[in-house]
Amino acid sequence: MADDLMQKIISLCKRRGFVFQSSEIYGGLKSAYDYGPLGVEMKRNLMNAWWRDTVHSREDVVGLDASIIMHPKVWQASGHLSGFSDPLVDCKVCKERFRADKAPAVEPGQEVTIELADKGRAKAALTYIEEQFGVTLKRSGRQLNGAKAGDRPYVCPNCGSPFMSDERNFNLMFRSFYGPVDPMGALASAIESGEFNGLSGADLRQKLDGFTKDSTVYLRPETAQAMFVQYANIQQSMSLKIPFGIAQAGKSFRNEITVEHFIFRSCEFEQMEMEFFCEPGTEDEWFEYWKETRMGWWKKFANNPENFRVRTHEASELAHYAKGCYDVEYRFPWGWDELEGIANRTDYDLKKHAEHSGSKIEYFDPVERKRYTPYVIEPAAGATRGVLTYLCDAYHEEQVEGPKGTDTRVVLKLHPQLAPVKVAVMPLVKKNGMPEKARALVDALFRRGINASYDAQNAIGKRYRRHDEIGTPWCLTIDGETLEDGTITIRDRDTMEQRRIPIDDAVTEIETLLRSE
Ligand code: GAP
Repeated sequence: MADDLMQKIISLCKRRGFVFQSSEIYGGLKSAYDYGPLGVEMKRNLMNAWWRDTVHSREDVVGLDASIIMHPKVWQASGHLSGFSDPLVDCKVCKERFRADKAPAVEPGQEVTIELADKGRAKAALTYIEEQFGVTLKRSGRQLNGAKAGDRPYVCPNCGSPFMSDERNFNLMFRSFYGPVDPMGALASAIESGEFNGLSGADLRQKLDGFTKDSTVYLRPETAQAMFVQYANIQQSMSLKIPFGIAQAGKSFRNEITVEHFIFRSCEFEQMEMEFFCEPGTEDEWFEYWKETRMGWWKKFANNPENFRVRTHEASELAHYAKGCYDVEYRFPWGWDELEGIANRTDYDLKKHAEHSGSKIEYFDPVERKRYTPYVIEPAAGATRGVLTYLCDAYHEEQVEGPKGTDTRVVLKLHPQLAPVKVAVMPLVKKNGMPEKARALVDALFRRGINASYDAQNAIGKRYRRHDEIGTPWCLTIDGETLEDGTITIRDRDTMEQRRIPIDDAVTEIETLLRSE
């Protein structure tokens, strides 16, 4: 059922131009997606709503748009170079590489079934397991029975095998090289000259790192660090008094191993993060404040607010920098999962950057005449994950009676602020001056900054359905009566109710409806 719903959403996204697999004609790039004409509108609407509510509606938050590539020392100071890694394991039977902490759990010694893609692979695996591990299993079709879980509390997520390599830590940051240097050229010359001959594995690794370390840079794995690094510049240039926040929205990159649930986890994604700097001792209050504020924000655009909840992190789950963390979770088709983290990062980041850069990163309170390192509360949300959340929240099917009997109507009940197209304008027929009136109305809507769409293709019923499926909240139809009395119909996407309004009032009516939502 859950898979079924995700498949329907993925299919709608492709069919109607929301999200495509990246580089699809070349076979696609795993965990990378392109936002099509409607997807980019929806993502921007979501990010603009966040910016409006987080920056433009508050006196205590300012914005930042920082470089994606930052000085490599940033990542050393933040702990990402040493600690931003996932425990990876290789399955020795099916060769899948997976995250140990995301693999299916089993009890040590529990009997498990290994399932391969086909009978041939199962036969080959049977022989391999017997030869390599001295374990004889029973084959039934493509299944192997009789294996027992070892000491590790998980099995391979692909085939269920307990035969795997040791865990290794894999850093999630994407590496690249900066400046007019080609480490590969220098490396090739060194290999040719025999510099590497006879080196042990560890020495070889160290030597290789030496060739790349001066030019290595990283694509940021979070937008947060720039807000710590630029804290002093922003506070001083804007004369900001604590408490205040710095907000940033944009791309982040993580070399994710686990491919999960469409755009939920991708290698290139967008975040909406805010670092709120406050006086030590006031952080608990602000932590609660931001939890409530962020939870209210997500629910504001939802059809089913009960599908959002807050989960408090256990002490064992906390990141090394956090004293406390709440997750805003959404009930996705596969279960509750994270949408935003709200963390109490204490003064960890500012102190680390002060220590590593040698700069003074503090706040001087001019009234109390005291100096301190501010504490930070960080609401860190996923924008691309937010798009998936609202697609799941909005997807709706209902049975309706049509001229050919009962039919399924698919509706994206997107909040009007998030809907890619706000209003469709339709001439009932392509004659009698109706197209001209419709085009003039589209132009008038454009002039007021409203994303409208002219649609004259197919019968009117089909056009309504097409716009229901992409979440267009209102359709305006020019018909015979328009020519007689200057009125048009306005149709509501969710109720399908239609009423007549003067064509001259249409733009104001749409503006009023958009404002009232
Ligand atoms: N600065 C803190 C930070 O980055 P995080 O929990 O790692 O915290 C914040 O990320 C949010 O970014 C997550 O709650 C999630 O919504 C989103 N996010 C993280 N990794 C993601 C990925 N690989 N794909 C899509 N969204 C991701």
